Amino acid sequence: MQNALVRENISAFPSGSAHRQHRVMRWLGEAALVVFGPADRGETRRYIVQRALIAGVIIAVLPIQQMRIPGWPGILGGCTVALLYNLPLAYLVFTRERLFTARVWGTILDSIVLMGASLYVFREMGAVNSASDIWLVFVVYIVTGGFMLAPLGSLIYTALWTGWFAMNTFLYYSPSSTFHDQLPIRLVFFITIGAVALGMARELQKRRERLEQQNRQTMGMLANLVEARDTDAGAHLHRIQHFSRALALHLGLSERDTQEAAYASMIHDVGKALVPDSVLQKAGPLSPEEWRIMQKHTAWGDRLLTDNSDFEVARQVARWHHEHWDGSGYPDGLTGEEIPFIARIVAVADVYDALISERPYKDAWPPVEAIREIQRMAGSHLDPQIVMAFVDLWQQGTIERITQAYAEQDEQALTELAA
Ligand code: C2E
Ligand code: SIN
Ligand code: SIN
Ligand code: FE
Repeated sequence: MQNALVRENISAFPSGSAHRQHRVMRWLGEAALVVFGPADRGETRRYIVQRALIAGVIIAVLPIQQMRIPGWPGILGGCTVALLYNLPLAYLVFTRERLFTARVWGTILDSIVLMGASLYVFREMGAVNSASDIWLVFVVYIVTGGFMLAPLGSLIYTALWTGWFAMNTFLYYSPSSTFHDQLPIRLVFFITIGAVALGMARELQKRRERLEQQNRQTMGMLANLVEARDTDAGAHLHRIQHFSRALALHLGLSERDTQEAAYASMIHDVGKALVPDSVLQKAGPLSPEEWRIMQKHTAWGDRLLTDNSDFEVARQVARWHHEHWDGSGYPDGLTGEEIPFIARIVAVADVYDALISERPYKDAWPPVEAIREIQRMAGSHLDPQIVMAFVDLWQQGTIERITQAYAEQDEQALTELAA
């Protein structure tokens, strides 16, 4: 399940060299993100339960109304269908952690069902000139859009449901009906509520961004803390961040997931904060007992990051960056795609960086030797596909540029590389 969380973040998971398709997928992913906003686990779970409750309550109210709403079969049908497809959506959210996918499908399916059912219900209502309040369901949608969607999505929702309501009124009610007379004032309410929903969507987005920024600051602080204790070269953790970022982008991850990977890579070794200096800075090979302690930095990192679910990706990377593609790694001996994708990315960046760096226990390798070693590790220690991407970047000179920039502390080059 943990893996599914990371896997979903890699919806544009690249295979082979179908790079054009990735770009399209990535673009679609980014566009969807602008409309729907990022998926929060708690919010998405609430969304699934809420939708089921609303549909259930409406179904329950129909008999209380003694089926006197014209077109009630349309309402009953729509709510039943919605309840039915809510089951696979609930599975996606609660079991597979496919939060974003579930929200996108939920919203699209709800919209189709509501549009279709309302056409039928309005036709029936218009035929007997009914003044039923069932149309207020559009208002419910506009309000939930404010909580659930990004501002742009909320705006689209308001326009959609306001327009749909007006259209149905014109289509199915005679110009002399009360329903028609009430349309302008009702539209004023729709638009007012839409404005409130938009305000909510914007406020929620702002809060989410502020929280993300705070989380990034926290990760930066943690990274500096680790850096202060580990390794001679202070550049290590920052270099690895740029290696991971370049890799993630090259592999077709979205901008958002790339950032997530970059920050996770910076604190992947946070568990080393608990490894004693005598082990961490030992000049020679480790004794079996010392090696046992050293290996624990993965589980310790996991534990340090476990309390805040916003650090979920970082936690997975901290735990699994020493897993090997062939299953010979630690701490859990995961194999292949069982290892979260971002952890596999960071593993390649980590090993390359360790090789070209001087450590208390080893000399720095020349980059050419290091890249050869990385290639040799493809399929045994490292994910061959990610190694391929890394070799690409190496041949393009990207890896060398990042290394140079840190060696010279070239601030401007670093800023450009970050962009
Ligand atoms: P690290 O120094 O950051 O190294 C990260 C990973 O880079 C290592 O994970 C290993 O997969 C790879 N790596 C580093 N140096 C070499 C090398 O010379 N050849 C090859 N093929 N790969 C290399 P690993 O082995 O799980 O080690 C985890 C951490 O344990 C290391 O992080 C380091 O802090 C510590 N460590 C490992 N071996 C020794 C050692 O002999 N002495 C001491 N004092 N620490 C060690
Ligand atoms: C996947 O990697 O499992 C696909 C993710 C998605 O489409 O949301
Ligand atoms: C997500 O799956 O949460 C985001 C989708 C994407 O950015 O491609
Ligand atoms: Fe490590």
